[in-house]
Amino acid sequence: MTTHDSRAAADLRARALQVLPGGVNSNVRLDAPPVFFARGEGAWLWDVDGRDYVDHLLGQGPAFLGHAHPEVVARVSEACTTGMVFGAQHALEVEAAELVRELVGWAEMVRLGMTGTETVQAAFRLARAVTGRQKIIRFEGQYHGWLDNVLIRFEPGPAQVATAGQQASALADAIVLPWNDLEAVRAALERHGDEVAAIVTEPMMLNQGAIEPAPGFLAGLKELAADAGALLIFDEVITGFRLALGGAAERYGVTPDLAVYGKALAGGFPVAALAGPAELMERFGTAEVNHSGTFNACVMAAAAVVASLETLRDDPPYERVRAHGLALMDGLRSAAEEAGVPLRLQGPGIAFHASFLPEENGASGELEVRDLRGLKRLDTARYQRFARALADAGVWVAGRGVWYVSAAHGERELDAALSRAATALRGA
Ligand SMILES: Cc1ncc(COP(=O)(O)O)c(C=O)c1O
Repeated sequence: MTTHDSRAAADLRARALQVLPGGVNSNVRLDAPPVFFARGEGAWLWDVDGRDYVDHLLGQGPAFLGHAHPEVVARVSEACTTGMVFGAQHALEVEAAELVRELVGWAEMVRLGMTGTETVQAAFRLARAVTGRQKIIRFEGQYHGWLDNVLIRFEPGPAQVATAGQQASALADAIVLPWNDLEAVRAALERHGDEVAAIVTEPMMLNQGAIEPAPGFLAGLKELAADAGALLIFDEVITGFRLALGGAAERYGVTPDLAVYGKALAGGFPVAALAGPAELMERFGTAEVNHSGTFNACVMAAAAVVASLETLRDDPPYERVRAHGLALMDGLRSAAEEAGVPLRLQGPGIAFHASFLPEENGASGELEVRDLRGLKRLDTARYQRFARALADAGVWVAGRGVWYVSAAHGERELDAALSRAATALRGA
């Protein structure tokens, strides 16, 4: 056990284990240190034993503005006093959709949902309705939610179920290919082209690794999809409103047919959005395609989207966040060199991936990572131990290596993260 095994957390953990399987509400959290948080503000978290952490997990991405951003809290609190869920239309949901459309730039219509997982399903359903086809091309190592038709083991090769109880037949229409490999997509389309409804991709791989698309890859996907009569869907659940106001589509200059947003969209509230051209999206409006949900665009959700997107639009933090992330990466590299450990960092700063080079590479070795197969060569077990040491030292990160930076990270957080990481690296 770590030094986190202190009284208040230990008591809560014992209680949690009695009522929550594994003590958690999402299996992603099973491997995290048994810390219980009492509070988050800006880029900081405080646990129930009073220890503070520089947060580079940010709730797995949503807290891009920092925790408890005052504008988001104020707008949502105020909106809640007028009622929380109407199961009917209200002005804020229109404002929210207009803002998504304005910032995304390429889409005309929006549907709001609650989670990335379910909103990906809406995109798939629409693509199948539009094309009259069933198959979806997707990529190794990419995560599109926890439901049966999208959850796969992160192993190279064809789709394999990732959990007991998963309906294997739900994966029958998934064609899983290596990422950043246009030839593989071309070959799959040659074989199955007239059966493929959509190609879905994270436009930058960020759930696993932090891998940018190879030059021409996204544009190539768009062309191949169009030639095959399939749609291109960007899963921008992580990248949306994070890589740029217009997400990865803006950063890489390629627009999809449909895109799914989540996480940074609503400053910490559970909201996701599907966006696309009116010609496609109208099929929900004519009732040809069903998309429903009691809590879709409830008052809190819509207010959170409006507050977050107005804040991002009126004072775009992107350059500052990028510079912070790059400085953090530089500092971590220096600290790792000093400690003599082969820490490997990759990514555009605003988010990045940290891992260790395998022993045979040595501290000075290089390894190109452009897909899941590359990620598999990294020493992730060593990183997971390091992530625990980081938590002990007061830096909160995901065990799978992604580091997120928020608009609330500044000089003080940079200094604290680097000095704490240096301590953790000495034992790595
Ligand atoms: C790229 C991507 N798509 C979809 C999802 C699913 O979103 P949610 O966890 O909100 O259901 C995630 C979650 O991490 C994600 O990273």
